[in-house]
Amino acid sequence: MEFEHLIKQRHSIRKYTQKQVSDEQIMKILEVGRLSQSARNRQPWFFATIKGKNKDALVSKLLEKDQTLEQNPTARMFKECSVLILILTTKEGYESFNDVISLGCLIENMCLEITNLGLSTCWNRNIANKEDIVLQHINKQEYRLETALPVGYPNEYVEPRPRKALEEMYIYKD
Ligand SMILES: Cc1cc2nc3c(=O)[nH]c(=O)nc-3n(C[C@H](O)[C@H](O)[C@H](O)COP(=O)(O)O)c2cc1C
Repeated sequence: MEFEHLIKQRHSIRKYTQKQVSDEQIMKILEVGRLSQSARNRQPWFFATIKGKNKDALVSKLLEKDQTLEQNPTARMFKECSVLILILTTKEGYESFNDVISLGCLIENMCLEITNLGLSTCWNRNIANKEDIVLQHINKQEYRLETALPVGYPNEYVEPRPRKALEEMYIYKD
């Protein structure tokens, strides 16, 4: 996809069809992540992927008692998606704010590759509130959960979300 078109095509999509994302597509998304730039080339990230019945089991754990999927938008998205990609860091935390920015580079690159492949995602930080449940589920308690990317084929059309005018951002021009 042409770069500017790709940027304009990327939207947060929260509904997915039943069509499965292939392992090859998943590997392409992770590979783009692997190539991302990071401060001091620290690459402070790790990946985990969850699919199928294992993902369903996690979704059940994310639901509060008697809660339905409709009452928990994050759980509903995770249930519907074909694969859940988890972005993890180490437990010691960030070396500096640079690591936070580096993770942003990584995740945006992965979001763009997901769009490039004709797939959709919605960057989910909300899941960090349920870090313990997720890490226990994959038995990786020594890591820290940064973000989850539910990935699937889009099942909704969204209008581009509003952006501020460039004049509001462009504060100095020589
Ligand atoms: C760091 C970050 C965290 C986000 N966390 C969530 C989230 O937890 N749940 C959610 O539904 N969307 C989340 N989003 C998606 C934003 O709501 C979305 O990007 C924004 O509304 C603009 O819409 P667009 O992505 O379609 O352009 C997050 C986006 C970013 C960049």
